[in-house]
Amino acid sequence: MPPPEAPSARILVIDDDEQVRRLLRRLLTPAGYAVEEAGTAEEGLARIRADPPDLVLLDLHLPDRSGHEVLESIRADPSTRLLPVVMLTGMATASEKIHAQSEGVTDFIPKPFSQEELLPRVRALVMLKLFADEHEHAERVILTLARTIDARDSYTSGHSGRVAEYADRIATRMGLDAAARNDMRRGALFHDLGKIVIPDAVLRKPGALTAEERKIIEEHPVVGNDLLSPMKTMRKTLPVVYHHHERLDGSGYPEGISGAAIPMTVRIVTVADIFDALTTDRAYRGALSVDTAFEILTEGVQNGWWDKDGVALLRAVIDDGGLSTSAQRAGVEAV
Ligand SMILES: [Fe+2]
Ligand SMILES: [Fe+2]
Repeated sequence: MPPPEAPSARILVIDDDEQVRRLLRRLLTPAGYAVEEAGTAEEGLARIRADPPDLVLLDLHLPDRSGHEVLESIRADPSTRLLPVVMLTGMATASEKIHAQSEGVTDFIPKPFSQEELLPRVRALVMLKLFADEHEHAERVILTLARTIDARDSYTSGHSGRVAEYADRIATRMGLDAAARNDMRRGALFHDLGKIVIPDAVLRKPGALTAEERKIIEEHPVVGNDLLSPMKTMRKTLPVVYHHHERLDGSGYPEGISGAAIPMTVRIVTVADIFDALTTDRAYRGALSVDTAFEILTEGVQNGWWDKDGVALLRAVIDDGGLSTSAQRAGVEAV
């Protein structure tokens, strides 16, 4: 009888030994799992590519390729990067295990297997995978929402994606580490999420804004922060969302923080945001040339508003060719 909490899931067994495959099928099927089989690395990878399972049980020694190579291919593909892979080890040496760990193996199960050992581990890993799927789904929903907000106004279509791309290139030149860049990038994708509450009449107004309308617009970092702060995974992106309209001399909003209190990732996104706003058509004016945009940015640096290095590095990014068309299009897809 399957234990009541066993989640139904698809498990792919990649092993050239038919007896092993049959044994695993016999152990796992009664527990409620759908077991699929592959006898070679090629066949296993083809199945994973066609329809990724929830868990892979992988033999270390396969006739066509090693289990290490299979694992490497799984981890290299963004769509299966987080797929749990358990290595079935008969006589694996310690160095083989270390090798597999460095490649991102999720767990090892020694052969021969016993049902008592196999089932609890499989169940735990499948649960983990299902949680990861839910989490990924939630992120996709928010990302779609962010894109919808950009798309609501034809003038800002693709804006957040481009800001994320520009910011990432500036940060790379600045030598920021990958983790900081990743958080910054996500923050950039959601930086204007709070615009969701701004009425169209204000957001797309062709003329100058009244003081009241400006106040409504200036609420968007606060609203974005409020929307994202309950989500644990978004926590590191919040400074970018909340502070992207601050200025180094404290004359920005919403908090009016200044100098070192504004993290570097936020300063970078601010520069990228202004540049993209200046060089694209807006309801109230046409796109400005790159040179005019940099004149305005440089003036802002002289006024003590924006980060000098950020502007200089953005200039280098643009002089290097800026964003490719595909990067412009893909910017918003990549979190
Ligand atoms: Fe904004
Ligand atoms: Fe923006």
